[in-house]
Amino acid sequence: MRSLFLAALLTISSLSASAAQPLYLDESQPDDVRIEDALSRMTLNEKIALVHAQSKFSTPGCPRLGIPELWMSDGPHGVRMEFAWDDWQHAGWSNDSCTALPALTCLAASFNPDLAADYGMTVGQEARFRKKDVMLGPGVNIYRTPLSGRNFEYMGEDPYLASAMVAPYIKSLQSNGVAACLKHYALNNQEHDRDNINVDVDERALNEIYLPAFKAGVDAGVWAVMGSYNKYRGTHCTHNDTLVNKILKGYWGFDGVMITDWGSAHDTDEAARNGLDLEMGSWTNGLTEGRALAYDSYFMAEPLKKKIKDGEIPESLLDEKVRRVLRLNLRTNMNRNRPFGTMHTPEHLATALQVAQEGIVLLKNKKNFLPLEPGKCSVAVIGENAVKKLSIGGGSSELKPRVEISPLDGIRSIYGDDVEFSLGYASGEPNYSFELPSPYDADSLFNAAVELARRSDAVFFVGGLNKNFTQDCEGDDRRYFNLPFGQDALIEAIVAANPNVAVIITSGNGVEMPWLNKVPAVVQSWYLGSMGGQALAQVLSGDVCPSGKLPFSICTSLEDYPAHQGGARTYPGENGTVHYDEGIFVGYRWHDTKRKPALFAFGHGLSYTDFKYGKLQSDRKKYAPGDTISLSIEVANTGICDGAETVQFYVGQEHPALPRPVKELKGFCKKKVTKGDKAVFTAEIPVASLAYFDPEIMDWRLDNDIFTISAASASDDVRSQIKINVQQPLITSK
Ligand code: GLC
Repeated sequence: MRSLFLAALLTISSLSASAAQPLYLDESQPDDVRIEDALSRMTLNEKIALVHAQSKFSTPGCPRLGIPELWMSDGPHGVRMEFAWDDWQHAGWSNDSCTALPALTCLAASFNPDLAADYGMTVGQEARFRKKDVMLGPGVNIYRTPLSGRNFEYMGEDPYLASAMVAPYIKSLQSNGVAACLKHYALNNQEHDRDNINVDVDERALNEIYLPAFKAGVDAGVWAVMGSYNKYRGTHCTHNDTLVNKILKGYWGFDGVMITDWGSAHDTDEAARNGLDLEMGSWTNGLTEGRALAYDSYFMAEPLKKKIKDGEIPESLLDEKVRRVLRLNLRTNMNRNRPFGTMHTPEHLATALQVAQEGIVLLKNKKNFLPLEPGKCSVAVIGENAVKKLSIGGGSSELKPRVEISPLDGIRSIYGDDVEFSLGYASGEPNYSFELPSPYDADSLFNAAVELARRSDAVFFVGGLNKNFTQDCEGDDRRYFNLPFGQDALIEAIVAANPNVAVIITSGNGVEMPWLNKVPAVVQSWYLGSMGGQALAQVLSGDVCPSGKLPFSICTSLEDYPAHQGGARTYPGENGTVHYDEGIFVGYRWHDTKRKPALFAFGHGLSYTDFKYGKLQSDRKKYAPGDTISLSIEVANTGICDGAETVQFYVGQEHPALPRPVKELKGFCKKKVTKGDKAVFTAEIPVASLAYFDPEIMDWRLDNDIFTISAASASDDVRSQIKINVQQPLITSK
């Protein structure tokens, strides 16, 4: 029926369209009409060409019809440098630097969706100026193990937080006529054996934990989704019937393009039948090597054309892919009204600075050791991460920032000549295949640093992980949970020489802290991008009051993490399969429910001021399933300076029919509160969002029950609670 309607529309439109302007180029026509007209004009060869790469980061379009090439670039934190046509080498251009935004863990830690919109706008404007049509990001895979090499590119352990932050990022980025490409769909929660690992996860965890942020992206109108390398139920996610046809395109109604990860396609029939639309990077590992000029041998190139010609695969399946790619063209490089983009603007740097300022998390601050007032004492800055360039490395999210203020530069800009630096420890240069040794003598670095600490009044130790292979880097995972490069011993020696130490951990993951009780202050910093050093120094000196909250739990030891309860079976997998035995009990859901508290809980983050919470209030006590719960709570700033607080709203069901976490994040509100003042923090929580996924009905179910709502400063710091009642059982599809 639809095709008849379109055919009729085509006929009518063709009678009216000006002869010179073919329908597919006539912007006054509906997209569907333009798409059908272009499709009707394409040969089989042209259709095949349209659905796979012509180079490392581009597809050929349809030159005869004037349908442009699609140009893509990484990554989630800014526009990557240019690459050679057909290999993993930088092109060496001189106009491809960018504004490096902080890593997405930092954005998540800001708990500020407005900032996520600014972030997406910055990436979109710079991508547009660099003539990119698709940005390969953001990533929203859930933080399951602290060893995963790519957690820094994602938004933490909670699906609600990741959902709330990814939607504004996508909308803003795409307002520039550039597609976001939400990744990696799905279940990319480790890098170890990423090309092959098969994930065994139950239906509830899949639907309640690992998919919601992707659905939020689709609901936000994302134009592209990237398949992950791993498998789900034995089939590669990139062409997985359940994930792509049934859930993504079926239940969720995704009308964009399903793109491979680079080298994540493995089978022509599966690619053709299971919803893959655009094949990139086949015969490559996505990082270092790949078969040269392999494009005709791509799974959706000659092999697909042959199967269509032999009648094994219907051409209609190819047509559906071509329709989606053409729709992407119309949304991007065939949209004559899209803006032209900008680069390196003051606004972009201001956004990078603000995300860094608001994402830094103050974990510990005994006796208000911080802020350290400038001009009052000598300051030793120790640690490689005070000077190491951290926007390069890490894999595909690497950037060539025009500006990158190091922590040492930032600290010197505020503390001036009171600062003296010592490297303390060193790692090798970034690499994506193996670990490179440091070129320095470790003992001499160690001894010099301890000596500097001894003769200084205070110490900023700036360490953590880095973007080297087997650190925070794609392609593999960390080998162990504690700090690398001998940092633990160095911190112990520094503290023994001078107890006035603030440890600043730069990382995208939690780390073991055996020295925690010996240091007065610990800061969880992130890969902070172009303005990172300035932001960090502003927080350390008190110019900025820290307001970041942890987007993931940090445990005392690796064995405390739910993903590490079952030996190799639960991580990194055995016999090719990793079993998510913890199910829905990920992160704080595990720590709350199993009564095994984390060292630093999800949502934890101290301030230099104090916040006093009032009583949580709801607009009613009884709700029907279609209602929205309006919450409010007054918070007073009773401390010494202005600050910003994030009130987190968690909800727990009293008598669930199936096991549920004690509480789950269903809302949050961040606000600045002037010293001595107060503010009302609010949230609107749809009752339907309190549902859980019931595998019996393969749908969402909301029980008639009592729910406890908590207003909290952290998942382990509840300040006020109320109970509400939901009436009328509802089976709803969220
Ligand atoms: C990489 C990454 C993916 C990236 C792509 C292109 O292997 O997994 O996130 O966008 O290849 O560089």
